[in-house]
Amino acid sequence: DWTADSFVETTIAALKEKLGDDKVVLGLSGGVDSSVAAVLLHHAIGKNLHCIFVDNGLLRKDEYQSVLDSYQHMGLNIKGVDAKQRFYDALAGLTDPEKKRKAIGRVFIEVFDDAAHEVQDVKWLGQGTIYPDVIESVSVKGPSATIKSHHNVGGLPDFMKLKVVEPLNTLFKDEVRRVGAALGIDPNILGRHPFPGPGLAIRILGEVTSEKVAILQEADAIYINNLRAGGVYDKVWQAGSIFLPVQSVGVMGDERTYENVICLRAVESLDGMTADWCHLPYDLLAKISNEIINNVKGINRVVYDISSKPPATIEWE
Ligand code: XMP
Repeated sequence: DWTADSFVETTIAALKEKLGDDKVVLGLSGGVDSSVAAVLLHHAIGKNLHCIFVDNGLLRKDEYQSVLDSYQHMGLNIKGVDAKQRFYDALAGLTDPEKKRKAIGRVFIEVFDDAAHEVQDVKWLGQGTIYPDVIESVSVKGPSATIKSHHNVGGLPDFMKLKVVEPLNTLFKDEVRRVGAALGIDPNILGRHPFPGPGLAIRILGEVTSEKVAILQEADAIYINNLRAGGVYDKVWQAGSIFLPVQSVGVMGDERTYENVICLRAVESLDGMTADWCHLPYDLLAKISNEIINNVKGINRVVYDISSKPPATIEWE
């Protein structure tokens, strides 16, 4: 019978055997899969695992530093790369969602390749690919999928010529979480909502600027903190805020305002393929709305998305 403990034991032994004294580079995203893959590899090969965590400037508020800290806490050999400006430059002037995704994927590959080159004699690329990614590799989105679509283009970045080691590629998501728990990984990391690779860029409709990112980060932090404080976070499959570059008239004190809209989204789902919008308590929504409008400059209206998937998607772009 499959148990997380026996999986951990046999996988670490197999990784030791397979990798010997070889070096591995692995991109951490802050998500569950890459974190669990990294900790397994770390148990097997220690400092020969070189983790790279890229700040693309599109993460949630304070997420880069807090995730970096918790990885360092776990003893991982990790290098953080501040590449915010490279991503913002690449996104300047782009409004089409697919062009935005492509630009982010391209810059990620460049940044990761630069960082991987700083590791001498690396032989392997570690990845947190899980079984559903393997069977659906065509429809999977995000950095790994972007990497795949570039395979056809030729002129591969050097790290893509490495041998690939994917310790989780036989597991489903719930099994990955159980393995993570068996490894003693922080429940806060294991219980995190899914977050798309292109990050807040696909939650800012139209052109992305650092100013809009800052506004969305503030509003989103208020939203997520309230979901946690209200005991709702763990009951929701995924939640996030969307910046709508639509202006509407409001009134603040005696002043007329003409500002943007934040949309709140929360869904229940098993795998992201279909999803129902969550019936969040009205009192909680009221509190979040007040806090956002009173505290986030540039926002004077908050709306709640009551669309399910299909026909809507979870993300707006
Ligand atoms: P949609 O919007 O297609 O999202 O209903 C389904 C799930 O996939 C995530 N998602 C992405 N993840 N790169 C990713 O890594 C992407 O480009 C991307 N687009 C959507 C989304 O957050 C949801 O969990």
